[in-house]
Amino acid sequence: MASNSPDDRQYPPLAKIPQHVGIIMDGNGRWAQQRGLPRSAGHRAGTENLRGVLRAAVEFGVPVLTIYAFSTENWARPRSEVKALLSILERVIDRELHELHQEGVQLRHIGRLDRLTPRLRQKVLDAIELTKNNQQLILNVAFDYGGRAELVHAVQRIVAAGVTPEQVDEALISSYLYTAGLPDPDLIIRTSGEMRISNFLIWQGAYAELYVTPTLWPDFDKEELYKALESYSRRERRFGMVPG
Ligand code: IPE
Ligand code: IPE
Ligand code: MG
Repeated sequence: MASNSPDDRQYPPLAKIPQHVGIIMDGNGRWAQQRGLPRSAGHRAGTENLRGVLRAAVEFGVPVLTIYAFSTENWARPRSEVKALLSILERVIDRELHELHQEGVQLRHIGRLDRLTPRLRQKVLDAIELTKNNQQLILNVAFDYGGRAELVHAVQRIVAAGVTPEQVDEALISSYLYTAGLPDPDLIIRTSGEMRISNFLIWQGAYAELYVTPTLWPDFDKEELYKALESYSRRERRFGMVPG
């Protein structure tokens, strides 16, 4: 094997590791289009790609990863594509759960489950239950997730709980979000070059560092993840203050 293959590469340790990384996995459709394949083939390739990225995240010491897999707006895509995306979620659980569990991945879900079929919903809940004590990596899957819908849901629950106006503060709102108990993302990566957030972690990502790469999601590999983490480690975060 050539000594310069990506697997042989030594990755210098990073000065600073984000405690929570969000990834907007975009560009599957374009990846397929470039190859004259149907969009669903791009989604399958994107899912295949996930395994390597998860391994790399563990190797680089990222403790929490949130992946944007299906947005509340993605329901508006053609029925056949929505169907393909739902069946991919089901297949990933069927085929990959055992290995993810073995590797110590703790699966979580953010978003809505009530619009999935009862069977798929149960599979998601079983996977969460099975892996709940794993500690290697928290993998938060954003499926039927939208940041605005999340805030609407939080406000509904806050009102229903009888919380008084004086009790409402940022910590209280955070505790009603799907991500309650997790750190806010330090870094949000978006593949395929689009410079937008597309309703992803809009509250939690208020001060996240953004990293956009033109690489399409099915081509985003360990080397690319390292580049993103390396870029993050060189950033100066200010949180509204003056440089110190
Ligand atoms: C991301 O790839 C996956 C989902 C949004 C479900 P896209 O399907 O958005 O791919 P492009 O952006 O059309 O290339
Ligand atoms: C964001 O990608 C959602 C996911 C990656 C799941 P989209 O492709 O749906 O976002 P837009 O339409 O480019 O904003
Ligand atoms: Mg897209």
